[in-house]
Amino acid sequence: LESYQTIVNGQLQHDGLSYQYLAETYGTPLYIFDETTFVQRVKDYKEALSNPYFETEVLFASKALLTKAMGQLVAQLGIGQDVVSAGEIYTAVASGVNPSKLYFHGNNKLNDELLYAIEQGVGTIVLDNRSEASRLNKLLLDLGKKQRVLLRLNPGVEAHTHEYIKTAHNDSKFGESVFDPAIEDVIQTINNYPTLDLAGFHCHIGSQVFEEQSFLDSATEMIEFSKKMEDNLNLKVKEINFGGGFGVYYTAEDKPFDIKAFLPKFIQHVHETSQKLSLTLEKVTIEPGRALVNQSGSTLYRVGDLKTTTSGKNYLFVDGGMTDNIRPALYQAKYEALITNKADEVADTVYTIAGKACESGDKIINDYPLPEAETGDLLLVNGTGAYNYTMSSHYNRIPKPAMIHVLNGKSRLTVKRETFADMMRNEI
Ligand code: LLP
Repeated sequence: LESYQTIVNGQLQHDGLSYQYLAETYGTPLYIFDETTFVQRVKDYKEALSNPYFETEVLFASKALLTKAMGQLVAQLGIGQDVVSAGEIYTAVASGVNPSKLYFHGNNKLNDELLYAIEQGVGTIVLDNRSEASRLNKLLLDLGKKQRVLLRLNPGVEAHTHEYIKTAHNDSKFGESVFDPAIEDVIQTINNYPTLDLAGFHCHIGSQVFEEQSFLDSATEMIEFSKKMEDNLNLKVKEINFGGGFGVYYTAEDKPFDIKAFLPKFIQHVHETSQKLSLTLEKVTIEPGRALVNQSGSTLYRVGDLKTTTSGKNYLFVDGGMTDNIRPALYQAKYEALITNKADEVADTVYTIAGKACESGDKIINDYPLPEAETGDLLLVNGTGAYNYTMSSHYNRIPKPAMIHVLNGKSRLTVKRETFADMMRNEI
C-alpha cells in the first residue's frame, strides 16, 4: 500500500475516499494522482540537494506525466522542468510554468520547435549534437538573439536496472560521446558560435537505475571531462545537469532509491571531485521524472469477465489495459494490484490480469495472486504515475481515461474522460 491508502471495513481508501466512491463519481478506468505525495517528494529532493557549495535545482522530467494540473503544480512549487518537444513547452507555458525554468531536451528538435522555444523564452536548450548546434546558431543569427545552452554528453557510463557497464563504445542516439576523437573541436565550435552561451554539460545515464555507483561514476567522468575542456579550450563550465533515472518501486524486486541518503552523498562527491580538480561549478541540476510521480499515481479498473482456459489459466479482464498502460506490453514491466473492495481477503487465486484490446500481449500482470474475484469488483494498480498517461493511446478506439487529483481528502477532475467524438475531432 502507498502511504495515502488505508483499509476500512475491508474497503481500501485513498486519503479517506473509498475507491467505490471514486469509481461511481468519475467512472473507470481512472487515473488517480495524490498531490500530497508528489509535493512531499519534490520537497525531499530539494532538501536533499541543498548544500553550501553551489546552487542546485530539481527539474521535473515532464515526459513522465504532463497535464495542465501537473504544470500548475510545478509552477506553484517553483521547480524547473525538462521538456522534450514543442508540445511539452506549450503545455508547460499554458499551465503557468515560467519558461526561463525550462530545459529543452531531445534529439532532432525541429527548426519550428527551436524557433518556438526561442520565442517562448525557454531558459536553456540542451543541445543534442553538433548538427543541432549549427542549426540553432543559424536560427539565432537570423533573429539577432542569444541563447543559453548545455551540451548533452555521453560519459560512457551506461546504467541498466540490474547490470552496469562502462564502455568507450557508445552507440546511443543521444548526445556527443566524450570519447569521440573530435569532441574538443565540436565543443570549441559550439563555444565559438556568437549566438550560443555554452553554460556547461548534461548527461543522462538511463532510467529506472538502482546502482548508486553508476551516478557517482558518471559524475566523476563529467567533472574530469569538464575540467579538461576548461583547460584546453576557452570555456567556463558553470553548470552540469546530471539527468534523472532514479529507480522506483514497482514490485518487491525493486529497491527504490533512498534519495534522502543518496543525494547528499552525491552532492558531496560532486563537490570533492570538482574541488580536487579546481573546477568551480555554479549550478548542479538533476531531472527526475519517474521518481517524482510514480508513487503518486494509481489506476482504478472495473473487473469485467473472468474466464479459465482449458489448461487452467485464470483470466481477469479489466476495462482498460495497454491503451492506458503500455509498459507491460512494451517493456515486460511488472506491477502489483489489489481488489479494493476485498482488501482484507486472502489472495488465494492466481489471475492473469488482461486488458480489453485486440492484442494477446495486452496484459497488465501475469499470474498474480488476488482474492477470488467477481465481475464488478474494483481492481487497483499502484505505481502508475509515470509513463502511463503520457504513453496512452487510442488503439481500438478506446477513449483515454479521466484523471483526478486527490488532496486533503478531496478529489477533483483534472483530465476529462475522452468521448468518441474527441477521438474523431481531427478527422475530415
Ligand atoms: N532526462 C532525460 C534526458 C531523459 O531522457 C529522461 C528519460 C529523464 C530525464 C527522466 O528519467 P526518469 O527519472 O523518469 O527515469 N518510457 C520509459 C522511460 C523512458 C525514459 C526516457 N528518458 C518507461 O516507461 O520506463
